[in-house]
Amino acid sequence: MELTNKNIAITGAGRGLGAAIARELCAVGANIAVIDIDAEAAASVASDLGTGNSRSYACDISREQEVNALFKQLEHDFDALHGLVNNAGITRDALMVKPQKDGSFKTMSLQQWQQVIDINLTGTFLCGRAAAESMIRSGGQGLIVNVSSISRHGNRGQSNYSASKAAVAALAVVWAQELAPYGIRSMSLSPGFTATEMVANMRPDALEKLQKLIPAQRLATPEEMARTVRFMFENDYLSGRDIGVDGGLRL
Ligand SMILES: NC(=O)c1ccc[n+]([C@@H]2O[C@H](COP(=O)([O-])OP(=O)(O)OC[C@H]3O[C@@H](n4cnc5c(N)ncnc54)[C@H](O)[C@@H]3O)[C@@H](O)[C@H]2O)c1
Repeated sequence: MELTNKNIAITGAGRGLGAAIARELCAVGANIAVIDIDAEAAASVASDLGTGNSRSYACDISREQEVNALFKQLEHDFDALHGLVNNAGITRDALMVKPQKDGSFKTMSLQQWQQVIDINLTGTFLCGRAAAESMIRSGGQGLIVNVSSISRHGNRGQSNYSASKAAVAALAVVWAQELAPYGIRSMSLSPGFTATEMVANMRPDALEKLQKLIPAQRLATPEEMARTVRFMFENDYLSGRDIGVDGGLRL
């Protein structure tokens, strides 16, 4: 897809990977709908994008009514939607069960499980469904990118997150099959550990240990992920596949 004047919605674009993807796609002429639960962060990213018809939107992607209203608004503000990057995601890490010295157990709470599933998985489904409807209505070509993770293969302490990320990669395969007749492609991106606020929250000793395990011996940059998403947009024969950008690490 040639990106000049194409309209691309990116969730969780108020910072981190989402903001980097917004900058990368905007630099080649796309108009960006910068979507985030944090209205101020979204507005600041959109105003820094400068040129073109980029705008910011506040939305909690886990809420069906908010998502449906958002995509209606996007149809009003942009003539057609050509892309969606389902990037918003959270972690709430904990071991599923951890025996304590006193015989009790610390566990991953249902709330920790549900929050991650609601945002990472249900949010991706809700935005993907609304975007697909919108793209079909406008009759143009489109691409949906689900941001998965290297953790989709399973990562200790991340029952909730790994399950959600495996699921969004599977959704990209399903959507590639279901939406191809309408000219819509679907892909997933599985970043390795990338230098954003999400990773900055890790304990420094854990982060140092982790970097030693990565064959590339460093974290990825958000820009390296953003360039991969741009490649997905620009290559029209890519669909139904995951691209892992992880410096060679296997969990
Ligand atoms: N950083 C990494 O190492 C890494 C690795 C693999 C995958 N990922 C994935 O990449 C994506 C982006 O990660 P990041 O590191 O930039 O994270 P981040 O925490 O820096 O940014 C996430 C953004 O999503 C927004 N957000 C959170 N909940 C939301 C909701 N309910 N509705 C709308 N917006 C919401 C936040 O406000 C924030 O701006 C996530 O899906 C993450 O799981 C990140």
